[in-house]
Amino acid sequence: MSVHSEKIIILDFGSQTTQLIARRIREQKVYSEIHPYDIELDRLQEMNPSGIVMSGGPASVYDDDAPISDPGLFELGIPVLGICYGAQLMMQQLGGRVEKTDHREFGKAELQISYTGGIFAGTETEPAKYQVWMSHGDRVEQAAPGFVATASSTHSPFAALRHENKPFVAVQFHPEVVHTLIGNDILRNFIFDLCDCHPEWTMHSFIDSTVAEIREKVGDEKVICALSGGVDSSVTAALVHRAIGDQLTCIYVNNGLMRTGESESVLRFFRQKTNLHVIDIDATKDFLEELKAIVDPEEKRKRIGFGFIKIFEEEAGKLGEVKYLAQGTLYPDVIESVVFHGKAPIKSHHNVGGLPERMQLDLIEPLRELFKDEVRELGLELGLPEEAIYRQPFPGPGLGIRIMGEVTAERLHILRQADVIVLEEMKNSGWYRKVWQSFAVLLPIQTVGVMGDGRTYENVVAIRSVDSRDAMTADWSKLPYDILGRISNRIINEVRGVNRVVYDISSKPPSTIEWE
Ligand code: XMP
Repeated sequence: MSVHSEKIIILDFGSQTTQLIARRIREQKVYSEIHPYDIELDRLQEMNPSGIVMSGGPASVYDDDAPISDPGLFELGIPVLGICYGAQLMMQQLGGRVEKTDHREFGKAELQISYTGGIFAGTETEPAKYQVWMSHGDRVEQAAPGFVATASSTHSPFAALRHENKPFVAVQFHPEVVHTLIGNDILRNFIFDLCDCHPEWTMHSFIDSTVAEIREKVGDEKVICALSGGVDSSVTAALVHRAIGDQLTCIYVNNGLMRTGESESVLRFFRQKTNLHVIDIDATKDFLEELKAIVDPEEKRKRIGFGFIKIFEEEAGKLGEVKYLAQGTLYPDVIESVVFHGKAPIKSHHNVGGLPERMQLDLIEPLRELFKDEVRELGLELGLPEEAIYRQPFPGPGLGIRIMGEVTAERLHILRQADVIVLEEMKNSGWYRKVWQSFAVLLPIQTVGVMGDGRTYENVVAIRSVDSRDAMTADWSKLPYDILGRISNRIINEVRGVNRVVYDISSKPPSTIEWE
């Protein structure tokens, strides 16, 4: 059950920008949620939305398997905004006509507004033309009864429409993308004027409502949380702790594959600045033992994952009866994304794979409504230090998958020193927060070099730095040469056992971000 009193529901028809609509609305401090287009009317009504947005999508309303929402949603007395495909479907369902056009519009277009009220409040008709972003093949040829055009573009006589006495509006273009320069104004007008929402959804109010929700759900049961040092688990722990205090126990497993100082600062913070109970297990030896002579990446991952679960289970077992596991699942992991052809897959995400089932734990996922940037904002509001909040992602198997070949204490020592240098230089130059991830990788080969008058035969370190939005795709960062030069110089001079540094210039796909 959702505790947000005012919310906008977005029906997803498969557009790549559906998530953006939710973000833009949330930026206005109004809560918004994405649901599949074919959600049942009863459920929609139960959620009591202040407004509904029908998203865009790749289909044509004339396709045999076009995604169609229940037209009964227009009978609920709730304001509706249709965007692109959503606009066309709205017109078709309410009695208008949509047709394929020879003049497909993709990209920037100029909008001539003819009605400056409603979603266009604050705009002008003459002589203004507003830049908007179009992406459609079909177009509205005839407005549904009761609707009138409120804007046009060169190829769309009905680039925007409104109903004359019902709160229904439709736009052929995408207000959620930055190229639609008045996009935010349009969304604001929709949510504040047509839907009568108030800008009250802040991280502060989120904390209040979530804390109350967690308290009610947990009662006096015990909760455990695997603290990894990453942003999501740190924020989860801080939030759950605020709700139930000592009923929460966090378990931090040091698998010996962490970066220098990667998690110490978070542990220090939780121990010194909060009363959070953290069990800190140093399992370095066990993990290194398990990884002995293992070179296959999948086998490494399996052993590291299994080792983690084993220790976590043992420690949790000592706490007596535990009912809940708190974990930092984020919104992009739970959205039921609509795939146009075929059934919608539901992504399920487990930070601690398999544990809930094995230990019969129920989940508490207080971040499951939030995007990453909102989690960061929440963390700051909860008082977590910036260095923990803006930490780059770090994989669960840690440095184990950044050492090609066998993981040994000696090779870990070499990689840690190189890694610190990469981080220091990225931070000092202001690039650390500009990239998605930046790190060093230790290769399983040795090359010849010359130091002083002597020949060397030593290790190669690769530097990987990528730009990405969500880690699904990534490109190598175009770091300035002087930063790369400094990193290379420092590693070769300061890290004993390394005589060569190379920069990885592959994108994902076809490469991945991590090397293993
Ligand atoms: P790849 O290498 O698949 O990585 O392009 C995508 C993102 O996921 C991170 N990653 C992991 N994170 N457990 C994690 O929590 C893992 O086993 C794992 N493997 C990769 C990686 O750092 C990148 O951000």
